Amino acid sequence: MTLQDTQNSAGLSPDANWWRQAAVYQIYPRSFADANGDGLGDLPGITSKVPYLKELGIDAVWLSPFYPSALADGGYDVDNYRDVDPRLGTLEDFDRMAAALHAAGIRVIVDIVPNHSSDRHEWFKAALAAPKGSAERERYIFRDGLGQDGELPPADWESLFGGPGWTAVGDGQCYLHLFAKEQPDFNWSNEEVRADFRKTLRFWSDRGVDGFRVDVAHALTKDIPLTELPDKAQLDAHPWDGTHPIWDRDEVHEVYAEWREVFNEYEPPRIAVAEAWTNADRRPAYARATGLGQAFNFDLLQADFDAEAFKKIISFNLAQASAAGSSTTWVYSNHDVVRHATRYGLEATGDPDAAKTWLLQGADPARVDVELGLRRARAATLLELALPGSAYLYQGEELGLPEVTGIPDEQRQDPAFFRNKAVEVGRDGCRVPLPWETSGSSFGFGSGEAHLPQPKDFGRYAVAAQSGVEGSTLELYREALKLRRELQSDESLSWLATESGTLGFSRPNGWVSFTNFTAQAQQLPAGEVLLASGPLDAAGQLPAATTVWLRQR
Ligand code: NOJ
Repeated sequence: MTLQDTQNSAGLSPDANWWRQAAVYQIYPRSFADANGDGLGDLPGITSKVPYLKELGIDAVWLSPFYPSALADGGYDVDNYRDVDPRLGTLEDFDRMAAALHAAGIRVIVDIVPNHSSDRHEWFKAALAAPKGSAERERYIFRDGLGQDGELPPADWESLFGGPGWTAVGDGQCYLHLFAKEQPDFNWSNEEVRADFRKTLRFWSDRGVDGFRVDVAHALTKDIPLTELPDKAQLDAHPWDGTHPIWDRDEVHEVYAEWREVFNEYEPPRIAVAEAWTNADRRPAYARATGLGQAFNFDLLQADFDAEAFKKIISFNLAQASAAGSSTTWVYSNHDVVRHATRYGLEATGDPDAAKTWLLQGADPARVDVELGLRRARAATLLELALPGSAYLYQGEELGLPEVTGIPDEQRQDPAFFRNKAVEVGRDGCRVPLPWETSGSSFGFGSGEAHLPQPKDFGRYAVAAQSGVEGSTLELYREALKLRRELQSDESLSWLATESGTLGFSRPNGWVSFTNFTAQAQQLPAGEVLLASGPLDAAGQLPAATTVWLRQR
């Protein structure tokens, strides 16, 4: 039986619109579960946790990259797009994992990294071995360097992780890397590059993959002159209106129109979601049905815990996605940002920008009100899971995990830290392996030491500590996801008239979500209480920073 067959015969509905209101759980494979005890999570580890994922009640998983990689950027430096990192397993392990997920009714989304490969990719090695002007170099972005021997970058551009964006190769040329120097950017004007990615999309789709999360979707096509490149100041000043030399150029959508043809070769069509940190008004182009079909909005992720801010963001994104014929996405946490249970504990400092700056600047544990952060995170999640659209959940948020702070410098892995120490503490704190058990080596993550250090008190967040425990964050997620499935129908939402600092909306069938964003108890609306993000008080009030789901007739 092929995977395509298992997909058809398994517990998956054939509904082509399954993605529109899906709860998608992001797995960062190297930190999820380690089956072979080498300290790195792996694909057999994921397979062993399928019963957990099924019980959680999600509709799909999205796997961050599991491809062969030197881990210069946590796997977003891909050596080979059509294979599995041997430390994480084999293609057969992938097939077994996908079959087990499908049998449990869970779809599989994989990460595709088309902006850059790793410097160990066979094409980049060939490019280095080949001379200037060769077909091999044409697959990447090489330009003549400045200085007597071309040893200086052709422009003063910076990589997004800090440091120069061009690296010299020693023969008078330099190559572009928007990220780490181990991540050379592809040349998307090159038909070989385009054809190879279509091959990769088919490779995974043929193996039964249901969809793709597209990394840095807004950077693929570029317009970089051969000589006299614009300088950094000119780049920074250039509007993002479709004509920027790097970001969000109009012709990137020609690539996605080609991909859409590939997606539509399958039944149901494969889905895709764009990671495009671009201007809000340019997101619909990624989300339309002739393109990738859905685009992340990271608006709630960047917002403070504030009723007005939430309402504005939700209204805007629902209207925008629906105008594009898509459904929107909600996300508070992922492998790139400080976990929201911690972010929401920051505002207590009185610094209104704290939550935002923290995305970039890392953690100062002394500034976090842990209890408040978790309380708000739970309230925010319950609100999110009542919204129309897809909810993207990040592994560990169902345990209420905080950001791990205080990782010793020598144990850090994120290139953002090494390239830009002065500014960023990096993203390792949200990538620490999950605690499954309350004690033992790596808290049940594996039989050995975890590849990033777990804090001593991690056991209190463990799955084993929360499973079956009334009121735990894990049980809240389980109940909410179960109810969401039962209650969800069409994508409509109506706002309720509420007092300032509170937010309420109703969905079809009398399903109401009501959130108190304030620091004081508020009047609880009428209706049958279905679920609350925290204990309700006896006087029928809704406590501070709490969401409740009600059924109103
Ligand atoms: C976005 C990914 O989410 C991030 O982890 C990665 O570092 C960059 N893209 C570069 O691939």
